[in-house]
Amino acid sequence: IADIKGGPEQGLDRLGQTLVLHGWVRTLRVQSTVTFIEVNDGSCLSNMQCVMSSDAQGYDQVESGSVATGASVWVQGIVVNSQGSKQKLELKVNKIVVVGKSDPSYPIQKKRVSREFLRTKAHLRPRTNTFGAVARVRNALAYATHKFFQDNGFVWVSSPIITASDCEGAGEQFCVTTLMPSSRDVVDSPVDSIPKTKDGLIDWSQDFFGKPAFLTVSGQLNAETYATALSDVYTFGPTFRAENSNTSRHLAEFWMIEPELAFADLDDDMACATAYLQYVVRYVLENCKEDMDFFNTWIEKGIINRLSDVAQKEFVQLTYTNAIELLLRAKKKFEFPVKWGCDLQSEHERYITEEAFSGCPEIKAFYMRQNDDGKTVAAMDVLVPRVGELIGGSQREERLEYLEDRLEQLKLNKESYWWYLDLRRYGSVPHAGFGLGFERLVQFATGVENIRDAIPFPRTPGSAEF
Ligand code: 4AD
Ligand code: MG
Repeated sequence: IADIKGGPEQGLDRLGQTLVLHGWVRTLRVQSTVTFIEVNDGSCLSNMQCVMSSDAQGYDQVESGSVATGASVWVQGIVVNSQGSKQKLELKVNKIVVVGKSDPSYPIQKKRVSREFLRTKAHLRPRTNTFGAVARVRNALAYATHKFFQDNGFVWVSSPIITASDCEGAGEQFCVTTLMPSSRDVVDSPVDSIPKTKDGLIDWSQDFFGKPAFLTVSGQLNAETYATALSDVYTFGPTFRAENSNTSRHLAEFWMIEPELAFADLDDDMACATAYLQYVVRYVLENCKEDMDFFNTWIEKGIINRLSDVAQKEFVQLTYTNAIELLLRAKKKFEFPVKWGCDLQSEHERYITEEAFSGCPEIKAFYMRQNDDGKTVAAMDVLVPRVGELIGGSQREERLEYLEDRLEQLKLNKESYWWYLDLRRYGSVPHAGFGLGFERLVQFATGVENIRDAIPFPRTPGSAEF
C-alpha cells in the first residue's frame, strides 16, 4: 500500500495495473450494489479502499460474514480512479480470499478506543493507526540512529545484558538467579528452590554464575572498554531498572543508546548529543511524513513545528548553578524545594524546558570526572519539553587515583571494578559519552504522552504481560 499511496507518482503510475494485496480488514461497508472494504497492510497509515461488486470472485465470503473487521485477506484487483473524495485511487476487486477469519469478539472495532484499553491488548494494538504509526517511527529512529553513528565512524558494540556490576551504583538492578530447579518449581515454591547457606542466606556459590548477577542498568562501562581500544563506539540495546516509579516516563525495561567517545571531553560529548538528536529528528520529519502528519493532527498539535525547531535551532546551554538560580527566581511554587546541590525533579525540568525556555543535572555517579572546583563533575543532561530528561552524559574520570577515591567515598566495592580500573592503568585517555533513553525519544518524536505507548510491550511495576 505504501508503494502506491506514497510512491513518487502517488500511485498514478499504477493506474490500470492488476495488483495483489495482503492485509487486515479495518472496516467494511456493505451497500446494495457495492461493498467497500478498507484494507491495511501496515506498510503505511493509509488503508486501501477495495471496492467489490457482487460478481467478483469470493463475494460469497462477504455474504457469509467472513470478510469482517480484523480478518486477514488476499485481494486481487485493478487500480482505478476513486469516485470518493477521500482518496485518489482505489482497488476494483476481481477476487478476494479470506486467509484468516476474525471472531466477532475482535476487540478493536472501528470506534475509537482509549490508549489505556489498548495497553491491555498489546498483542492487537499494532493494528490501530496510532500504534502502527508509533512502530514505524520507532523503526525509523532506530535506523537513523545506526546511520548517524555508522556514517560518523562509530563502531557498534553489543554490551551484555547480564552483568555483575552496577553502572549507576543506585541499587536499582534486577537480580538474575538461575534457581537450578525447573521454573515450574520456582513459581510454586520460590523460597525453597533457592540454594541457601547454613545461615539461611542465598548461597550464590551454588548459583549459575557463582556470584550475584544482575540485568544491566547501562552498557556504559562495557562501552568504555571498547572506546579505549576502538576510539568511538556506541551501544544500542535493552537496559533494565527496578525503579519503583509508576510514571509516564519510566519503564522497567527500556532501550538505551550509549555512544562513548575516546580522546574527548564534555564539550565534544555535548556536540555529539546535539548533532545526533538533530539528525534523527530531521530524519523522521523527512521520511515519516504521513505518520508525522497523523501525530500532528491527532496526538500533539504542532509537534511538527516543534521538531523542526529542534532540528534547526541551537540548544540552550545552562550550567547547573544557573539552572538552580533560574528555579530560585521562578515565581512558581514547587513541590520539591530548590537549593544548590539538589537533584532536579521532573517539575523543575518541566519548568526549565516549558516555561523558562519555551524552547541538569542529578546526583552524580562514581564514574563522572571531577571538576577543578572539587565539588562538581563534568556532566550534562539534555532536557526537552514534555519529556524532561532525554539524555544523561558525562566526561568520565580517567585518572586512576581520583576514581579509586570516588569508589571509596561511595562505599562501592573496589574489587569488583578491577577491570574498569585497569582501563585507567593501561593507556588511559580522556573520554566522554552519554545515554539516551530510546522510548523517551519515541515519546518526544511522536507526542505520545505515556512511555508505555512508545514500546511494543511495556514492562512496569506490576505488569509483565504478553
Ligand atoms: O541518566 P542515566 O541514568 O545515565 C546512564 O545510565 C549513563 N550510564 C549513560 C551514559 O553516560 N552512557 O540514563 C540515561 C537515559 C536518561 O536520560 C533517560 O532518557 C533514560 O536513560 N532512562 C529511562 N528511560 C525509561 N525508563 C527509565 N526507567 C529510565 N531511566 C533512565
Ligand atoms: Mg540521568
